[in-house]
This record gives sequence, structure tokens and C-alpha cells, in this order.
Amino acid sequence: MTDVDIWSDATFMAAVGEAVWAPSIHNSQPWRFRRTADGIEVLVDRDRALPVCDPDLRAARISCGAAAFNLRLALAVAGAPAACTIGSGDVVVHLVPDRGRPVTPAECRLHRQIRRRHTNRSGFAEARVAPGVMTQLVDEAADEGGWLHVVEDDESALWTVAQLTREADAQLKADPAYVAELRAWTSADDDVQGVGRGAAGAAPHPAEMMPRRDFGGPPREDTRDLSGAPVVAVLGYQGEHRMHEIQAGMVLQRVLLRAADLGLATAMYSQPIEVPTVRERLRLALRRPYAPQLVLRFGYAPTTCYTNRRPVSDVIDR
Ligand SMILES: Cc1cc2nc3c(=O)[nH]c(=O)nc-3n(C[C@H](O)[C@H](O)[C@H](O)COP(=O)(O)O)c2cc1C
Repeated sequence: MTDVDIWSDATFMAAVGEAVWAPSIHNSQPWRFRRTADGIEVLVDRDRALPVCDPDLRAARISCGAAAFNLRLALAVAGAPAACTIGSGDVVVHLVPDRGRPVTPAECRLHRQIRRRHTNRSGFAEARVAPGVMTQLVDEAADEGGWLHVVEDDESALWTVAQLTREADAQLKADPAYVAELRAWTSADDDVQGVGRGAAGAAPHPAEMMPRRDFGGPPREDTRDLSGAPVVAVLGYQGEHRMHEIQAGMVLQRVLLRAADLGLATAMYSQPIEVPTVRERLRLALRRPYAPQLVLRFGYAPTTCYTNRRPVSDVIDR
């Protein structure tokens, strides 16, 4: 293949097969992939949007940005590096073949984690994450143009983030339409979409410092806070418009893959981002110029159940 050959069908299909393992809000997989005359487009799939918890498609664009990051990584590892531009309208990202170059060891490391990475909704171990490990994640976010704000391990900062998450969670749960939408994306078995019983973890317990989203898991009798040890961090980008949300998705995926590479388990909380007034209070508490995009926790945990994905043929526009 010369430097600027267009990608073959096989390369395209294989790369999309990796892209779909990105995280997405409620595992809705709100993406489509299309070959164009000069490359590949990633599009947001409006039919899979969540009108109640994501009316502006913010979370859908973050999810698509994460998928685009995987796509680009898979192409680089296949020896077909891509240059990327942010698209307009429903086109999230446009990739075209870039000059040939050897794949880097860092790309290989991240690529190996694409199918291993998953969201942890079960308990974390008591072991603390060393500050040096978190610094690596902070650097990873900055290299991708974003920011990861590690919340100080002092009670007041943590309490503020936890309190905002609790407030947002309570507000969201009071809306029957929100609960109905969440239930619609909760599956009893290992469906190809949504969050299945295995991945849901136990139902959130009032003792938890940060309430997890309730994906219909069984009630938990243990009254300890199973999420006491993991570090809390907030992710964002240098801007908060549509294109920055897509880029924040790329930052998210890079951080998540690096975390998996470092042996960390990750939990995500977007309730405080989904309630605009709470999101603004979180921004002020962190003293950031731009709105945060996701709250995360990093810690150590055994591998839990994975969510599933739709077949590649379902996400390709012919
Ligand atoms: C923008 C965004 C917001 C998310 N918010 C939450 C959340 O609030 N609670 C949660 O448990 N998982 C959240 N997730 C994780 C998804 O539920 C998860 O990625 C999806 O179910 C696929 O599972 P996997 O990450 O294990 O591959 C979020 C993911 C994204 C991309």
C-alpha cells in the first residue's frame, strides 16, 4: 500500500469492528460509519439518541468521539494511519489516509486494551491509586488537548462532587420519563445493546458516597460504601461546543485505554453533567473555564461482566 492508498473493505470493516467497543451512554452505540470517496466518516445516529437524558446529543457526540479514537487507533495499528478532522452536521469525524509511518509502542499498548476495557459498576478494592499513576492519566488527557481534574483527596472537595452527584441523581430519578428511558436501555440478559444484568452491578445503596446510575441490578445487603477508595476525577476539554464534545470523547477514550493499560478499573457518572444547574456548580467548584464533560472514578477491581455490541454490519451505512 502506498502512502495515500484508500483503505480496502477489509481494513475498513476490521477497524469498525474495534471502534464499536468504545463506551457509550447507556451502551446505546449512537454511531454509524460510512466510506466516502476519500476516507471514512463517523456519524451520530439520531435514531439511537436518548431524548430525555441527552436532549442535545452531547453524550452521543462524546460516545462517537470515543469510537472515532478507537477507529483511528485500529487503522494506525493496521499500518493505515489516518488524519482526522471534526465534521459538521451529523458527521462527527472525517478520516482520510495519512502518510505511512510505523505504529508507535504507545499506540500498540492502547490498542491492546480496546476489548479489555469496560465500565466497573461493582465494588472496588480498598487499595489506593498512587498519585504518580493519576499523573500519567492527567498527562494523557492533556496530550489529547483535554483536561482531567483529579479531585483533591480532602474531604471538602470530595464531598462537593459527591453532593452534586447525589443532587443530580435525585433530580433525574424524580422524572418518570428519565426512569422509563433508563429501563428501556436495561436488559435482563446479554442483549447486543443497553446494560445487561451482569454489567449493571448491584443496585445503588444509600450508603454509597457517589450514587451509581441504577441499571436494575439486584438489591445489595452490604451497607458499606463499596466505592470509598477509588480516586474521583473530572474530564473536560478546552471548550464546550459541539466540536469540543467530540474531542472530549477522544480524550475520554485515550484516558480509559491508558487506565486499563495501567491495570485500573473505571466507573463513570454523568448525572451531574446532565442537570445544567448542577453542571455549572461543578464547573465553579473545580474553578474551570469550561463545563466538565464526565465524572470518573479510578481504582482496582476484579474484571466484571462486559456489555455487548451490535454486529458491525448494523453500524455501516452502505
Ligand atoms: C458520555 C458517557 C456517559 C456515561 N455515563 C455513565 C453513567 O452515568 N453511569 C454509568 O454507570 N455508566 C456511564 N457510562 C458508561 C456506559 O454505560 C458504558 O460505556 C456502556 O454501558 C458500555 O459498557 P462498557 O463501557 O463496559 O463497554 C457513560 C459512558 C459515556 C460515553
